Order: sequence, then C-alpha cells, then structure tokens
Amino acid sequence: MKTILLIHGPNLNLLGKRDQAHYGSLTLKKLEAIVKAEAKVLGYRILPFQSNHEGELIDFIQKNSEKTDGILINPGALTHYSYSLHDAIIDARIPTVEVHLSDINKRESWRKISVTKPACIGQKFGKKEKSYLEGLTLLHKKLTTKKS
Ligand code: DQA
Repeated sequence: MKTILLIHGPNLNLLGKRDQAHYGSLTLKKLEAIVKAEAKVLGYRILPFQSNHEGELIDFIQKNSEKTDGILINPGALTHYSYSLHDAIIDARIPTVEVHLSDINKRESWRKISVTKPACIGQKFGKKEKSYLEGLTLLHKKLTTKKS
C-alpha cells in the first residue's frame, strides 16, 4: 500500500480550541481520522505527525521520505517564513501538497506569502477539512498519472 505523510506544524495540536471562524471545530485527531478514511478509499496508508518545532518536522520528512509516496502538509505559520522546510520538501523529491484550513489570502497580509508553496505541486486553502480532501485528490491524481 502506498504511504502519504500527513504533517502538521506549530499550534495545530490545539485544533478544536483555536479560533473556529478560521480553523473550524475539529480536533487534530478527528481531522486526521477524516483524511485517513478518505485515503484508505483511494488506497493509501497515512502516517501522521505534528510538531511545534521546525527541526522535528524536517527530521520527520528526512527520515520517512524515501519510503513514502507523497506528503500532505499544513506547516502552520512556518508556511510564511521557513526556508528550511521549503528545502526539506524539495529534497524529499516526492509530490507534496500544502493545505490550510483558513483562507490565508483573506487574512493579514503576511499570511498571503507562502515560502513553502513553490516546493509543492499545489496548494489548497480556505475550506477547513475540505482543503485536505482536495489536497489528497490532487496528490492522488499526480501519483496515478503516468509520465509520458
Ligand atoms: C494555517 C494558516 C497559518 O497562517 C496559521 O499560522 C496556522 C494555520 C491554516 O491551516 O489555516 O497555524 O496553516
């Protein structure tokens, strides 16, 4: 079975307690369960990981990318400034989709910038958990489209 890493960055362990207008009411556990269920239908195993520490996220990507087919990542605020996370995604050499619960383009101006997006095959945002399902669909399309 193919494997997808489901990675969450800083503060996303507090989902359910954070501003629900932006992030919805689901806990991280519930969100992971929703993604896992949809991934299973598409034929993937999900390996979830959350950390509040940039280096731990990079260590996780480095440790697992060789035996993994794709990455679905919500880097949290690291999205907006972590060049090392950008590089870790590039170096993983597997399709990666960036996802956000909130609409980062309709909030503070600094949230409109994603330094990790250029390392990804796509970005889905603004639809709460549906952003993740759209991200998964995009990843699935990429993984099942034969290269010519
Ligand atoms: C977020 C958006 C980020 O700007 C923010 O720092 C987060 C969550 C989202 O999912 O909407 O922690 O990535």
